[in-house]
Amino acid sequence: MPAFENLADLQQFVELCQACGLRQQAERVVFGEGVARSRIVFCGEGPGADEDKLGRPFVGRAGQLLDQMMEAMGFSRAVNAYILNVVKCRPPNNRTPTMEERDTCRPHLEAQLGLIRPVIIVLLGSSAIKTFLGEDARVSRCRGRWQCLPSGIWAMPTYHPAALLRNPGWKVEAWDDLKKVIDQYRALVDPSHVAPAHPLSSAAGVQKK
Ligand code: URA
Repeated sequence: MPAFENLADLQQFVELCQACGLRQQAERVVFGEGVARSRIVFCGEGPGADEDKLGRPFVGRAGQLLDQMMEAMGFSRAVNAYILNVVKCRPPNNRTPTMEERDTCRPHLEAQLGLIRPVIIVLLGSSAIKTFLGEDARVSRCRGRWQCLPSGIWAMPTYHPAALLRNPGWKVEAWDDLKKVIDQYRALVDPSHVAPAHPLSSAAGVQKK
């Protein structure tokens, strides 16, 4: 895999990829989108039907929920965050991408992270969690606990928004995880980061004046 100086050049390269069978059945390569130098990245599994049609990540129902979650956290793909997936092409019938497909697409993911250089990555669901934390990692066991990746990026595993749509009762736990992300972002990136649903004064260790 060649080295690239920016995301646009990397995207052009990834759009020509034929390394696995997914590309043949997908309409579009869904590279990812957001602010190139974001300190926080949200990583999902792979494009679904809506994403495949539009060539953009997280634009269907799960994407709308992700946008709402991010907004509550004070993030958006337009201003201060980047959204990407473990595989860039839609698996047929929205099946889960195989380990081989994830492995094949991994250099693209690593190259994206190498260019963005985030401080924090939020791992949304099982495919993202297995990709970064190992095949034995389970959402139920590792969600809500920080892991420092070998690259130095802080990873927070949590539920995939599609899982939250199926199991709304899990939203409370998911929000607990995301509040930790906001706190960490304030600790490592921007102490005055504004998160509408988690005001600064309620953050751990911050005294009300
Ligand atoms: N689910 C994902 O994991 N990624 C998307 O882009 C859309 C739905």
